Formats: sequence, C-alpha cells, structure tokens
Amino acid sequence: MPKHNFQPPGAFLQEINSLIHQEPFESILYCVYWSVVIGVCSPIAILLLQLRLLFRLLGWILDSVRKYSACDPKGHPTRESAVVITGCDTGFGRDVALRAAEAGYIVFAGCLKEESVTERNQLSNNIKAFTMNVTNDEHVEKAAQMVSRWLDETTTQQRILHALINMAGVGFCGNVDFMPLNLFQTSMDVNFFGTVRCCKAFLPIFKSQATSNTYNDARILNIVSMAGLVPTSVGTSAYAASKYAVQGFSTAFRLEAMGFGIQVATINPSFHETNIVTGLSTQVEKLCADLPGAKREEYGEEFLEWLLTQTRIPLLVSWRAENVVQQTMNCLMNRSIPSEVVVGSDAKFVLVTLRIFPAWFRDILFRIDSLRYAVPASMRRMKAKSD
Ligand SMILES: *[C@@H]1O[C@H](CO)[C@@H](O)[C@H](O)[C@H]1NC(C)=O
Ligand SMILES: *[C@@H]1O[C@H](CO)[C@@H](O)[C@H](O)[C@H]1NC(C)=O
Repeated sequence: MPKHNFQPPGAFLQEINSLIHQEPFESILYCVYWSVVIGVCSPIAILLLQLRLLFRLLGWILDSVRKYSACDPKGHPTRESAVVITGCDTGFGRDVALRAAEAGYIVFAGCLKEESVTERNQLSNNIKAFTMNVTNDEHVEKAAQMVSRWLDETTTQQRILHALINMAGVGFCGNVDFMPLNLFQTSMDVNFFGTVRCCKAFLPIFKSQATSNTYNDARILNIVSMAGLVPTSVGTSAYAASKYAVQGFSTAFRLEAMGFGIQVATINPSFHETNIVTGLSTQVEKLCADLPGAKREEYGEEFLEWLLTQTRIPLLVSWRAENVVQQTMNCLMNRSIPSEVVVGSDAKFVLVTLRIFPAWFRDILFRIDSLRYAVPASMRRMKAKSD
C-alpha cells in the first residue's frame, strides 16, 4: 500500500482560509455570503417547489394506476412477503405489526418482553413474535437465522424479505448534571447500536435477494425522531445524541445500500402519543427524587419544579400515534419512498425550518422559557449577593 501524504492547497489559499476565520473578515463575509445565498437561492427554490407540486400531481395520477411493491392493486401482498419489526411490545411497533399483518405480510415481531410475545402471537396468524433484546448479539443473530430458515422452506409461493423496521427505542430525559452515565449508555445501546446491529444482521439476506435477482424492492425503515434532525431543548442530551447517531448512520448507510437496490429511510416524528411521552414525567420525577442532597440544594426546588412542568408539555402537544403508523405503512407499501419522512405538522413546518437557522438563533428560541425560570438556586443566591 502506498503511503498517503498531505497535499495541501497552496500558500495563497491557506492564507485566505486563515483570514476568513479572523474578524472583521469573518463577520463581513458571513453576512455577505448568506445575503447572496438567500437572495439567489430563494427564487430558484420557489421555482423548484412549483415544479415539485406539478410532479407530485402527475405522480398521484400515476399512482392510481401503478402497482404497489409486493402488493396487488388493493395493497395485498402477491407472494409471501416478510417484514421484521423490532420493539413490538408497545406503541408504533405493536400497531405497525398488526397493520402489516392485516395487510397480508408475514410479520416477524421482535418483542423485549416474554408476555408481549404471547400477546402479539394471539393478534394474528400472520404474526410470528419472538423475544429480542436489540442490545443482545445472540438474540439478533438468532432472529436473522429464523428469518433465513423461513425463507428457505419450500412452499408453493415464493418467499421474500420485504422490509426491516427498526422501532425499538428508549427515551431518557434530564439534565446532563442529573443523569447517571448509564442512561446515556443505554440510550446509545438501544437507539443506536440496536439499530446498527439489526441492519448488519439482516443485510446479508437483503444482499442475497438482490444479487440472486429474487427481490429488488426491499427497504429498511429506521424510526428515529425529530430529535435526530434538530437540536431540541433542555434535558434531551442523551436522547438527541442517540437519535443524531442513528440519523447519521442511516444517511450514510442509505448511500451504501443503494448499491444493492435497498432503500433506507428514516421516519422522524415529533411528539406523538407513545409510552415514551407518557413515561417522561415519571422518569424525570424519579431522577429528581434520587438527586443527592447537595445537588438539590444547588439547583433548588423551583428549578426542579420547572423541569417537571417541562416534561408534561409533550403530553399537551402530542399528535395521534396513528399518523406515524400510517406513514410507516406507506413507506412499507409504496414503491418509492422519501429518504426522510417527517411526521407531525409542528415537525414539518416549525422544526424543519429551524434546521436552517444559525445556532445562536435556535439557542435563543429554546431558552426563552428557561432564561426566566431555569436558573439554578446557587446562581440566584450569587446574583442576590452581588446586587
Ligand atoms: C437487554 O439486554 C441488556 C444487556 O445486553 C440488559 O442489561 C437488559 O436488562 C436486557 N433487557 C431485558 C428487558 O431483558
Ligand atoms: C402511498 O403514499 C401515498 C402518499 O404519498 C398514500 O396516499 C398512499 O396511501 C400510499 N399507498 C399505500 C399503498 O400505502
């Protein structure tokens, strides 16, 4: 292997690059550059949006005559198509498993708990539930083997693996200062490594279907969250970090999987009615209750109360879970699917727009509330003394 050495840009470019990082050039260039970008891009963007609308209208007309993937025109699978879903104990996972089974798919439903396995199996003949802890190599490997064996069984109908849906997820909230390291670790283990593990375990099946020309319309759907696309507010560090990780993973993996004709999409809902949302207050209450005395003193009761009211906000702004289930079903059944499926009108309009704003502006928005209330007691005492 030849050794690769730096071949840096010339002295002139290096000089310019350094200059751009110094005031006043930094501010001047920042403002000029973005004025030009916004000025030039806006009209182009408006034109593209109009074209897209036209294209979609044509698409809808075509869709009504075009066949859906692995389905007859009524949306029923034409062969035995399997779908693997993780995290089928509750929430989106359970609902999508049932809907997919009703649509005629054979659903391999991974459940964390033993009792969920029995419950899911009773729901439909098309559901094959099994215990799967996505943090466990052996469980995931066994699941892939089970699906492989099912695919290899000789039957009259052709059997294919249509999709892997990574639903399993956990949500821990709380200030960095309050959360033990293991909650960060568990968030990464389940939300990030769990997804990576499942993608890697089922990839050989998808690849062999593609290379043997048995099936070329497979897809992997990773249920992320808006927390994987926009930096969110106070207390979401562990959750957002793990979700950003899956989002980054999915984006890069999508480009690689395309080589095998496998579609990879993320589904990014804002707050929807799930256990993660209803469990939030209880989890943060426990976190606050477990705080050592010195930390309670440092932050003060008013701060902790403010934090708890924050955890109840999602209960007031959560959309029906059905929307996420429906969007997931669309991604499962439609031939071509978007790369990122943003669900929830707040997500579609407000949160997505925030992505293009500079960080300082987002910080102000997210801190409006906390500036006033979320001041730790120790800082209040300091201010009172110095006034
Ligand atoms: C899942 O596996 C992890 C370790 O890999 C373990 O700590 C956790 O308790 C397991 N969860 C359940 C519900 O068995
Ligand atoms: C395909 O997606 C469209 C939205 O783009 C949706 O209206 C339609 O129901 C989907 N089809 C199926 C079979 O899910």
